Amino acid sequence: MKKPLFYLLGAVALTCLSYSNCSFAANTDKTLASIKQASQSIEKKVIQWRRHLHQNPELSNREFKTAAYIEKHLRSLGLEVKTKVAHTGLIAILKGAKPGPVVALRADMDALPVKERTPVDFASKVTSEYNGKQVPVMHACGHDTHMAILMGVAEILSARKQELAGTVKFIFQPAEEGSPAGEEGGAELMVKQGVLKNPEVDAIFGLHISAGTDVGTIGVKTEGILAGVDDVKIIVKGKQAHGSTPWKSIDPIVTAAQIINGLQTIVSRHMTLTERPAVVTIGAIDGGVRSNIIPERVEMLGTVRTFSQEDRMAIREHIRNKATLIGKSMSAEVEVKIPYSASYPVTYNDIELTNKMLPTLKSIANKVKIIKPITGAEDFSFYAQEVPGMFFFLGGKPLDVSEEDAAPHHTPDFYIDESGMRFGIEALAQLAVDYLNMHAK
Ligand code: NI
Repeated sequence: MKKPLFYLLGAVALTCLSYSNCSFAANTDKTLASIKQASQSIEKKVIQWRRHLHQNPELSNREFKTAAYIEKHLRSLGLEVKTKVAHTGLIAILKGAKPGPVVALRADMDALPVKERTPVDFASKVTSEYNGKQVPVMHACGHDTHMAILMGVAEILSARKQELAGTVKFIFQPAEEGSPAGEEGGAELMVKQGVLKNPEVDAIFGLHISAGTDVGTIGVKTEGILAGVDDVKIIVKGKQAHGSTPWKSIDPIVTAAQIINGLQTIVSRHMTLTERPAVVTIGAIDGGVRSNIIPERVEMLGTVRTFSQEDRMAIREHIRNKATLIGKSMSAEVEVKIPYSASYPVTYNDIELTNKMLPTLKSIANKVKIIKPITGAEDFSFYAQEVPGMFFFLGGKPLDVSEEDAAPHHTPDFYIDESGMRFGIEALAQLAVDYLNMHAK
């Protein structure tokens, strides 16, 4: 649910535009210079932290050493720190000297079961247990950079405690990539455990490093920036028969084929494509053992990506209807489970918040790109469905590498140009300061 926080803000911004000696603008300019400076001078340290975290990656819900490393730093800054939130998560509170709202900044902590192949001397050699197997572990999505950046921001803002008009909540969140089977975790569990309460958060910001975006560029958009996800399982139950006598069967293979075809018309014939994209994919189909047996049962797994809650609910309903009615027409019994395993809301960038904070991003990045919606997902969405949020992408691609040549996230060659991190430190620190100043009591 979105809170109506911004009714006052319009008036403040207008006043500032009308008078050249506006005190808010002057303050912001002063802080901007000092935060830019601080980000530059802390850059080396942040890169060292990042390399340490990169060399010591841990899988989702197992970020024990990672949490201890971050905790030590946060405590050294004199912050109020809460540990073991949603298993290994941390919350640190920085109370400014002046009254004001509460702004939260979030970084995710987990690595992936990927074998690193980059030539850097701090490449990971770590292995760990995953689903009962020993696997190589790598920060192959850049969450190491997110943590190091936020540690840097905590240090910069702690040094400005006297000037801060409000409270900053630093959130270090485990298991963004998804919890191990049978475990809860990630942002959903953090929210359940009250991360946005006590004190109540008024707005939240988060970033993701992007291996395919130029260093110095920030990508953002209003409304849905990353998709909502629903996984789906469809079970088709028929009647087994010899392959030579199909008239004695209720054929779940033919029924499943018709269901898959039927699902293709959900996006193409029911969704308003000029408004928002949507995706329905069946990615797995399992049925039958040999050529001359019509089996009893077929199971299918799929994923749905949407950019509004309305589309999400509509597609759930269309899948249930099409699958069961096509099944009925074939005398087969069809069971639809949606959501099945993964279920994430849309990562929604609050329109007013994003528009208000765009000038801050523009003052920092070499270029701010208004990007298209991305059909991937991010569990930052669980925070942003509770309070106004803004999530953006931070360039981490060396300028002399083409977008096509940049190794994608979650792959062994995934590589981040560390010089991009400085823009992230500056952006999060300045977003917090500007937000607090805009809403100072
Ligand atoms: Ni990620």
